[in-house]
Amino acid sequence: MAVPIIIDCDPGHDDALAIMLAAGDPAVDLLAITTVAGNQTLEKTTLNARRVCTVAGIAGVPVAAGCDRPLRGPQLVAADVHGESGLDGPEFPEPTVPVAAEHAVDLIHRILAEHPEPVTLVPTAPLTNIALLLTRYPEDAARIREIVLMGGSTERGNRTPAAEFNIYADPEAADIVFRSGVPITMCGLNVTHQALATPGVLARFAALDSELGRICHALMTFFASTYRELWGFESPPVHDPVAVARVLDPKIVRCVDANVVVELHGEYTRGATVVDPHGYLDRPVNAQVAVALDQELFWSRLLDAVTALGARRGAAG
Ligand code: BDR
Ligand code: CA
Repeated sequence: MAVPIIIDCDPGHDDALAIMLAAGDPAVDLLAITTVAGNQTLEKTTLNARRVCTVAGIAGVPVAAGCDRPLRGPQLVAADVHGESGLDGPEFPEPTVPVAAEHAVDLIHRILAEHPEPVTLVPTAPLTNIALLLTRYPEDAARIREIVLMGGSTERGNRTPAAEFNIYADPEAADIVFRSGVPITMCGLNVTHQALATPGVLARFAALDSELGRICHALMTFFASTYRELWGFESPPVHDPVAVARVLDPKIVRCVDANVVVELHGEYTRGATVVDPHGYLDRPVNAQVAVALDQELFWSRLLDAVTALGARRGAAG
């Protein structure tokens, strides 16, 4: 049985690939795509989600816009990583996929209430929408099967020495989520930095010889240029599909149990995820924390998903 999921995202190059993986792989049933301010403004991330759905032929999956700023503090964008549009690189046609009239949080709440079984949430962005959902509708916690998120790190950060972007952009929201009691899996930088779009991976996307394969190639080529410039990476880490991959098949992403707290007050460490697999702090386990990626399984699932979406598009004419 396909696992019902909702992706909450801020496309974003890697978010775009996460959406394609979720829509193209039969192991999950993508019920909705919700957007939040993050890599770019809410207006841009929502437009980008619609662009991705349009080029990938993802129809019938509602796209709803959520929060346009963090719970507290200024909004942060990552134009240096994702460009002014949030999805620089490929040319996109005018999107044909509409945006829902409902706020993202209300859409998630309604789906949780109506779906016959608990739903998995896959946030690949700042956790503002998810924190608002849990605060506004506390009863929804019991209807969430688990939250499998991209964010945080067991090691260094990528926005400050200690903090990863999705957590740093809204630490208060992340704190609410990690304290919620909902089962959480955290796919942080320590594991997503194993998902490198190497020249070999790029060649496999090019070899698909499809329009969607070319768009993925262009997305990762742009992403490679900013990662090279900003951090000196030879190949860019494609973070967000790692969280989706964990839902598809837990064998792709190995995890360990740990207590995770979000640092809110540190002078230099605000937004850090303090991960304690050894129990030094004597706090209960509240998360599974990803530590290792099966790279071949990961890339072959992503390529298969892009192939399936391309074939569906072709069949639809
Ligand atoms: C995360 O931040 C964003 O820039 C990416 O889309 C990913 O979700 C990586 O730190
Ligand atoms: Ca993202």
